[in-house]
This record gives sequence, structure tokens and C-alpha cells, in this order.
Amino acid sequence: MGSGGKSPSVRGCGHKGVANMGGRYLVCLSLVMNVVLLTSLVYGRGHVRKKGREMVAGNQICLQERDGSGEEEHAKFCRAAGKASSCNNSSSSLPASPAKLPSDAIINLDHGDPKLFEAFWRDAVGKRGDTFIPGWQAMSYFSTNAAGTVCWFLEPSLEQEVRRLHRLVGNAEAAADRHVVVGTGSTQLFQAALYALSPPDAPHPVSVVSAAPFYSSYPLVTDYLKSGIYKWAGDAYAFNEIPRHERGPYIELVTSPNNPDGFKREQVVEGNDGKLVYDLAYYWPQYSPIISSIDADIMLFTASKSTGHAGTRIGWALVKDKEVARKMTKFIELNTIGVSKDSQIRTAKILGAISDAYERETAPESEKFFHYSRDLMRQRWKSLRDAIEFRGRFSLPEFPTEFCNFFGEEGSSYPAFAWAKCEAEEVDDCAAYLKANGILTRSGKHFGVDPKYVRISMMDRDDAFNLFIERMSKL
Ligand SMILES: Cc1ncc(COP(=O)(O)O)c(C=O)c1O
Repeated sequence: MGSGGKSPSVRGCGHKGVANMGGRYLVCLSLVMNVVLLTSLVYGRGHVRKKGREMVAGNQICLQERDGSGEEEHAKFCRAAGKASSCNNSSSSLPASPAKLPSDAIINLDHGDPKLFEAFWRDAVGKRGDTFIPGWQAMSYFSTNAAGTVCWFLEPSLEQEVRRLHRLVGNAEAAADRHVVVGTGSTQLFQAALYALSPPDAPHPVSVVSAAPFYSSYPLVTDYLKSGIYKWAGDAYAFNEIPRHERGPYIELVTSPNNPDGFKREQVVEGNDGKLVYDLAYYWPQYSPIISSIDADIMLFTASKSTGHAGTRIGWALVKDKEVARKMTKFIELNTIGVSKDSQIRTAKILGAISDAYERETAPESEKFFHYSRDLMRQRWKSLRDAIEFRGRFSLPEFPTEFCNFFGEEGSSYPAFAWAKCEAEEVDDCAAYLKANGILTRSGKHFGVDPKYVRISMMDRDDAFNLFIERMSKL
């Protein structure tokens, strides 16, 4: 090393004749590369493009979209910055594919973890959804929204892409007069909606109901904090039997298509004295024909199921009434002081990549997310029906053929979950029976119905799904 205890410095770049000149030369080269690459990133030269649409001058959000040729630039940037962790979202730093399951593995199909779409987002087409966020960006709590935006932490790019995607798909009314509220998953928005719709000073908590079989999280999430303003009141069909004057105020959750059984739903409780929250997590073309554009007061959506990005924890609500949107925003402000900007930016990019592919006239169907994902779901449902048909020990729901406005053709539903019934007389607890055969599912009892039913996730990776089909065909 250098004499006099001095550590090598930039000054050493011009120093010749020292023993480790090669090392210093590399340091210099690396520094020069840093400057060149950073300049390239900041000014958008080389192959790294800035997309004008993604520049929001007010809050200085800037995303660099990396096209195919920008990959290497990005990888170099990551190496030069020496901060692998900040570059971990690059697929180049991930293994080519997750480790394969051994053939005797327990298959966990209890959770609805949407890993089946990973393959789409890994390949060349999906890479259009990659996001790179420099360390200095999106640091503020606040977003610089257009005048009139109620949700003060909503990223403008996310709002824009949410409205654009709904326009493309035609599943829900998302024109400018609807307020967009972003949440940490639709789970947070669900709670925000309960908060916004429950009068703070009523003598009794508002009843929250949903038709059985209902999504198993509703009772848990509604009651875990023992709120004084709302409480879980169970099956909406049973609630509907109570004479009207005895019911008191209520909120009905309408989940369509429904989790767990995949059927489309309408409100169940008769009369118009209740409030409705539509949970439309699965009203996307890969799961269900899009038969109309829903125009409800509060509609909840989530990236978890629409694109498969559960890990971003982004959901959004489309809300008609400004005051309700304001109260939902207040709930999230009190709960988490907003919603991760990084996640919002990433989600905006993903949604935009989907819409872009549909706007590219020349794009083949394999590049179009909803075509790709619908075909995948259709194949999976066919495999499952084929596997259980012969022995007749399980039954599955049958779905009607409906005209899908999005695909412009007739089609069936291919839900994210299979709601299966054990038909064998000796099996009372279907989940326990499947567990004994290496398949974890969620029992019907968590959805307010008989344990002869189970909910099975159809959204795991190929290897888990294929093992599942192999086992089912032998039961
Ligand atoms: C009907 C329904 N609503 C909401 C959610 C939760 O979504 P998020 O991941 O956005 O919290 C789920 C997740 O399984 C769901 O099935």
C-alpha cells in the first residue's frame, strides 16, 4: 500500500510505477464508469430511456424503463454502485427459476398466493414491467396530485394507470368522477370502508355481513380489534331472514366473483337501508367473463389478484362519494400515514405494461397478460376436471358460458380457487383427508359452511400444481 500511512485516494489515479498499479487502474476505471453510467441514467442517454408519461414534475418521480438493450446498463449500474440490495428487483439477480419441489413434498394450496404469473413477468415481455427507483426518489410522505384528488398519498402515475386499465378491461366505472383511494392491499381498504361507512356515534355497532360461503378473512379482519362501530354478523342470507325493523344498520360485502366458490354475486340482503361494498378482486378476464362494467358506490381491487403482485401490497378503491373517499383516506392516514410510494410506482409500471401491450397493434397474444393468464387458468381447470372426473370422489362447481366483452367471445369462468366437495360418504372432513394425502387446503368451515368442502388454490407454480393434479388423479 502507499507510504506514510496514506490510503489510496483519487489523487493516486495519476501515480505511475507503484506495485498495485493494476488495482488502482481498475479503481479509476470503475469511478469513470460510475460517472458515465450515472450521467446516462440522469440524462436518459444510452439505452436507458425515461418515459415522459412517468415523469411527474411536481414530486419528481422518475422511472427509468429498461428495454431489452438497457438490461446490461442496469446490471452495470448495480455493480458499479456496489449496492446489490438496491438492485435486487432486477430479474438478473434472481435465479432462473425457483427450486423444484421434490416429488414427496407437502403441497400448500391453503393460501391464495398468486405465483403462477411469475413466468409471464420473468420473460422478455414481462420485463417491460421492471422498475428501477433511484435512492433519492419518492422520499416524501406526500404526493403531488391534481387538484381535487382526495387521497393525498396516491401517486399520480398509479391513479392514471388504474383508470386506464379499467377503461381497457371494461370491468368497472373508473371515470374522473370516481375517487381513487390506494391502500396497503385491499385488506386495508376493506377496513377503511368499514370505518368510513359506520356512524361514529351510533348506539350499537353496525352489522357486517356477507353471503356464505364468504371470504374467510372477513370475520377475522372485522373483529380482531373489537371495534365499537362495526362488528361481524355472519351470513347475509341468514341476516336477510331477520325482520327489517330488528336488523339495524348493516354493511354487506358483495364479493364477485366470490372467494371461495368463483360465482358472480349480487347483493343478498333485501331493501336499500344497508351499505354495499363490492370486493371485485377477481373480476378480471383471466378468472371470469367480463359481462358488464360495474358501477357500485365502493369497489375494491387488488394487484394481488389482477396481476399477481401480492407482494407489492397494493390495492385500490373506486369510490363514488367524495366524503366516503375522504374518510377512507383518513383511516389510512391514521393507520399507516399513507401507502408505500415504491409499491405504488411499481404497480403503476406493471399496470401500464399490461395496457401498453394491448395498445401495440402488432403484439402477439402471448405478450398480452389477460390472454396469457386466461389460457393458463383454462388449462389448469381442464387438468383438474380431467383428474377427478374418472373416480368421481370430488365434485367442482359448474360455471355458465357467458359473453365476455373484453375478449369479444363466449367463455367460462376459471376461478383462482377450486371449491371442491368430497363426495365420498366416509369423508366428513375433506381438508383432513387431503392433508393426509400431502395436500394442504382450507376447510369449508372457515367460509361458514360444511367441512365436506375445501378451497384449493389454483395459483401456485407449475411444479406444485402438477404434483397436486398427479395426487388428485390417484385419490
Ligand atoms: C376476495 C378477496 N378480497 C381481498 C383479498 C386481499 O387482497 P390483498 O392482498 O390486496 O390484501 C383477497 C385475497 O385473497 C381476496 O380473496
